Order: sequence, then C-alpha cells, then structure tokens
Amino acid sequence: MEIVFASRHESSPHAWVHALQQALPEHRVRLWDAEGPAGQADAAVVWAPPAGLFAREPRLKYLFNLGAGVDALLTLPGLPDAVTLVRMEDGGMAVQMAEYVLHYLIRQSRDLGRYAGFQAQAAWRPLDDIEREAWPVGVMGAGVMGARVAQACAALEYPVAVWSRSGREVAGAQAYGQAQLPQFLARTRVLVNVLPLTDDTRGILCRATFEQLRPDAYVINIARGEHLVAADLLACLDSGRVRGAALDAFEQEPLPPSHPFWADRRIEVTPHIAGASLMGLTVQQIAGKVRAVVRGEPITGVVDRARQY
Ligand code: GLV
Repeated sequence: MEIVFASRHESSPHAWVHALQQALPEHRVRLWDAEGPAGQADAAVVWAPPAGLFAREPRLKYLFNLGAGVDALLTLPGLPDAVTLVRMEDGGMAVQMAEYVLHYLIRQSRDLGRYAGFQAQAAWRPLDDIEREAWPVGVMGAGVMGARVAQACAALEYPVAVWSRSGREVAGAQAYGQAQLPQFLARTRVLVNVLPLTDDTRGILCRATFEQLRPDAYVINIARGEHLVAADLLACLDSGRVRGAALDAFEQEPLPPSHPFWADRRIEVTPHIAGASLMGLTVQQIAGKVRAVVRGEPITGVVDRARQY
C-alpha cells in the first residue's frame, strides 16, 4: 500500500511519517505534499486534512482518522462516497479521559479545591466526610471511552450509569437506552459527555438536560464544544441549578480570549487535552488495521456514515 500522512494541525508530521513507516516497513508511507505530483496513495492517515487531499489523491480507499471523533471528517468538501473512514478507537485516549474525569469528580466530591484557601491561612480545617451516594455519575456514551470512564468511577465506588443509543451494558454501571434519557438524568449529579457529535447529539448539553439532573449538578464535557449550549450552561450556573463545569472542548478552538468561560470561576477550562492520541499506540492501532485490510480481514472502527460515527 501507499499511505500518505496529511494533517493541517500536527506540529511534527515527519515524526508521524517515520513512526508509521517503521511500523509498516512493507508499505510506503509519505508526507502529503501540496506542490508535488498527483499521488497514488491507497490510504491516508489524517487529522484535519488539507482541502486538496481528495482531488490530488484520487485512488484513496481508506482514511484513518487520528482522532476518535469524525464529525469534522464527515463534512469535508469533496469527501468521496467510496472511501472507507476509520476512526481511532482508543490510541491511549480512554485512560486519559478516565483520569481527567476522576480528577474533576474528586475535586468536587472531596471539596479538595477548598484546602488551598485553608492552607493560605494556615488553617487546619477538615471538611465533611465523603458520601459517595451523593455523587452519582452519569456517562453519556458507552463506547471504548465512555466505558473506561464509567469503570474508573465505579472502581472508586461512585454510583455510575451510562446512557447510549444502543443501551450497551458496561460492567459496574447501570445501562440506560436512548428512550431512557429522563430516568438517566434524574439519577445523575455529575454528568460526563463522551458522545460522538452527530445531528442527534448536537446541543444535547442544554438547559432542558441540566434541569433534569439532580440538584447542585456538575458537568464535564470531554467530547465536542458543539454538544454544549454555552448560554444555557451560564444561565444554569447563575440560577444555581449547576454548581460548576469542567470543559475541554469548545465550538471555537482555541477558545477566544474574550470568551466568558475563561474568567468564570465556576468553570474549569482545559485546551482539548482530556484524551490525546498518543503516537506509539495510535500508530500500532493503524498498522494493525492496515495489515488486516491487506489480508482481506474485517476491521473495527469503520464509520457508519448514516449514523455519523
Ligand atoms: C479528539 O478530539 C478526538 O476526536 O480524538
């Protein structure tokens, strides 16, 4: 196979090409070159690929996305119908997302943020003991990442539920299907979003959703900014319905300096780092899939375009 690596955002594209070539010595891996002659690539490894990719690489049969979310890929102008899209299923992301969620969950449930203030006053002031039953976690999304997040919270004995289109079971968590969203929200205080962005999930973190949560709720969004209706979150923070939020993804990235989220003490902003694709694991996963494709075997992670993930 000839494989081209094409990304507008990747700061070290040569390192990716090198790692892919090392993992796939029997194939040819090269860097996308907008100036060079039209290519003969059979597959492309992409993250925010350049606009000219499809016109210049007419033989492409596979597009391997460096991320789990393919929302941006699906709306690329010129994306040929016949290209098989493959999303990253983990690439080291799931465990990082679990860490991220545990961090913000525990800061809330243990009130750990308050001790810094006490320390500044040299005050020895133990807060109340934790009551895990008071912090039921609800994870939206039961794929590789949602499951890992849910299991991590369950391992620390928080009551955990997962909600997904399919109602998929996750060990240690209570599973809710699509039609059971109201029941899922009603038992949830810490709402974690790990859903793919689709026409059905856009704007799902809105006032109607927040108002169904348990009182004094907390919201963690580690999926896409478009899942969240920013004005609704701010209104629910003001009304006290939601106590705070940890947000890692935004409609516009980087988040503009003038955005109200930056200065809001109830919101913790992180720059889309909750679950990064780690080069070694990502390359291993893509190499395994390339080899399976060449052997004519089925692969997982193939995007269903009608479902949008
Ligand atoms: C990151 O946002 C991803 O889609 O993997």
